[in-house]
Parts: sequence; C-alpha cells; structure tokens
Amino acid sequence: DTEIVSVDNHMDNSLSYQRAVDILKNGGVVAFPTETVYGLGALATDEKAVQRIFEAKGRPSDNPLIVHIGNKEDVDKYAVDISEKAKLLIDKCWPGPLTLVFNKKPGVIAENVTPGFETVGIRMPDHPVALQLLRVLDGPLAAPSANRSGKPSPTEANHVLTDLHGRIPLIVDGGRTGVGVESTVLDMTTVPPTILRPGGMTREMIESLIGSVHAEAKSPGEEAPKAPGMKYMHYAPESPLFVIQADEKAIRDAVGMLQEEGKRVAVIGPDEFDIDGADWYFTVGPLHDHEAMAANLYRAIRQCDLTDADIILAAETDMGGVGDAVMNRLIKAADGKRFPI
Ligand code: TXA
Ligand code: MG
Repeated sequence: DTEIVSVDNHMDNSLSYQRAVDILKNGGVVAFPTETVYGLGALATDEKAVQRIFEAKGRPSDNPLIVHIGNKEDVDKYAVDISEKAKLLIDKCWPGPLTLVFNKKPGVIAENVTPGFETVGIRMPDHPVALQLLRVLDGPLAAPSANRSGKPSPTEANHVLTDLHGRIPLIVDGGRTGVGVESTVLDMTTVPPTILRPGGMTREMIESLIGSVHAEAKSPGEEAPKAPGMKYMHYAPESPLFVIQADEKAIRDAVGMLQEEGKRVAVIGPDEFDIDGADWYFTVGPLHDHEAMAANLYRAIRQCDLTDADIILAAETDMGGVGDAVMNRLIKAADGKRFPI
C-alpha cells in the first residue's frame, strides 16, 4: 500500500522527511512535489533504487532521468565542462524549472540514470519540500515525473496516487505544484545551446541571459530527437483530444456539430467562455493567461479522463513565454490533431 504524508502545513514535519529519507537510503522510491510537477525520486547513485523508478512507472529504460540537487555547487560533483554561459544560467535560474544537460562525470551517478549517454541532465528544483528532502537526504535524487508512463505529469498528490497506488511506498504531499508543466531541458553541450524540451523556464528568459539558443523542435509538437523522452507517446488522454482555436463561437459550433453525431463532448477552455452545450467544461484560467493554463492543463486532462466523453476539444493558447511549453504538451496530447479535421 502507498502511504501519503502531508507536509503542506505549518507543523513540524521533520518525522515525515525522515521517513522519506529512510526509504530513499534503503533503496526505495518516494514521490515528492517540485515547482513544476511531482517527481518520483530515488538515490541517483544507487542503481537498484533507480531501477525501481522504471518499474513503478512502466518507463522505457532507454529514457534518461533528471538528477535533482539541493545546492548549486553540487553540479560539479556530477558534471564536467561547465561553460561560462551555463554558470550564468545556474546563477540566475536555479533553483527553478530549468534542466541543464552537461557532459557526465564518469563513475558517480548510477549508469541506468543516463542509459548509454555521455551526458547528464541536472536541475535544482524551486520548491521548499523538494529542497528540504534533498537537504535531509544529502544526496542527488534521480526523478522523472511521478506518473505512469504515457499519462500526464501529476500536479497534485492524488494524481500520483491514481497512477502509482500500490506501486510505491510513499507520497510526500506538498499540495498543488505551481508551474504545472515540466522543466525546460537545455542541452549545454551544443553551440549554441539547444532547447530539447520547452518548459517552465521561457526561451525569452534564457536568451536574455545567454543570447540566442537553438530550438530543436522548430514548430510546436515537432519531435526533438535528442531528448529521448520526446519520442514516446505522452500526455494522451483516454478519449481523442483535438486542439481548437480559442474562440467561443467556434467551440460552441463544434460542440453542437459533434453532439448531433451522437458524441459526448468535453471541453478544456478559458474561464470566460460560456459553452452551455458542452457535456463537460473544464477551465484552465483566464483567456491568454499562459501561466494559469500551464498550471491547470494536466489536471484538466485528467478530469476529462474521469468522464465518459467520446471526444475532447482543447482551446489553444498563443505561443511565446510558457505558451511554447503549453502548446507543445497540448499538441502531443492531441497527437497533432486539430478541429475541424
Ligand atoms: O520538471 C521536470 O523536469 C520534472 C520534475 C520532476 O523535475 N521531471 C521530468 O522528468 O519531467 P521526465 O523524466 O519526465 O522528463 C525528463 C526529460 C525527458 O524528455 C528526457 O529524455 C530528457 O528530459 N533528458 C533527461 N536527461 C537527458 C540527457 N542527458 N540528454 C537529453 N535529454 C535528457
Ligand atoms: Mg515525464
């Protein structure tokens, strides 16, 4: 059975952290919140523990994991060839939703964290619970998102429970995560650096610090072959999802048309829209508010999975800022499909 301990309160939670760390030091896995999504952590130097992550998630074993650290200085323990640009990003963006890919220092991190790779992705999460856990553990945590492989990343403890109940011993519940989409993965081994996965740290922010970067995915949804995780089916709800323009009338008409075909329709859209006809309407925040949409998108997709909708329509948002990450995830969830077809 899976135990949940809440640390989202103003009490002394030291026993809860100790319990998590005892499990981790004994080769177990623990789910915990970060500012992006919940992670499923194991001690990154313990190959057997890391193996448990892949088993619990049903994750393909050739997809490398991000190493989470609690201090910026720890990056030198696991990575080499850290450029001046990288140092600047570490200085300004950590802790935060930015994973930096470096050449790996050999022989420190367990081999199965970065299977067959000469590189390692590292980040320092910006969440008090993640940081406290890392502090008490005093070691690196390998942690992918704490969902079953193929499900949206969890932004609440109960999402983790839904996916991993009975498969992991402990969930540290720190409430809802803030950013809601995963970290930006930036490969620092290329010149210029390459965004392998758009995420919580915006391209604009990165470029304001280190100049222009290369974006592996040229248009939203296009594959980024160097981030192996991008090649797998991701974030797919149970019913087919279609991206639709963020226009109230267009969505109303689409709902009406689909219902005439006998379909039950769930809609993901902004607060302002009034789509009476929809069988379900899940809001993701104010129109054009990228941050709100990032924070709410995965929950909305999971809510759709709890309905018996035949089809899901999701209103798009504009590119730019964290909109890049939101649209990347939405297009993946849709497997590229748009409405009208
Ligand atoms: O926000 C996040 O990044 C969350 C929280 C828990 O930190 N973690 C997360 O991990 O999203 P995961 O495993 O679901 O996604 C990691 C992504 C994958 O697409 C993986 O292929 C890529 O990062 N990645 C990891 N290490 C890499 C490396 N050495 N080279 C290229 N891509 C790498
Ligand atoms: Mg993931």
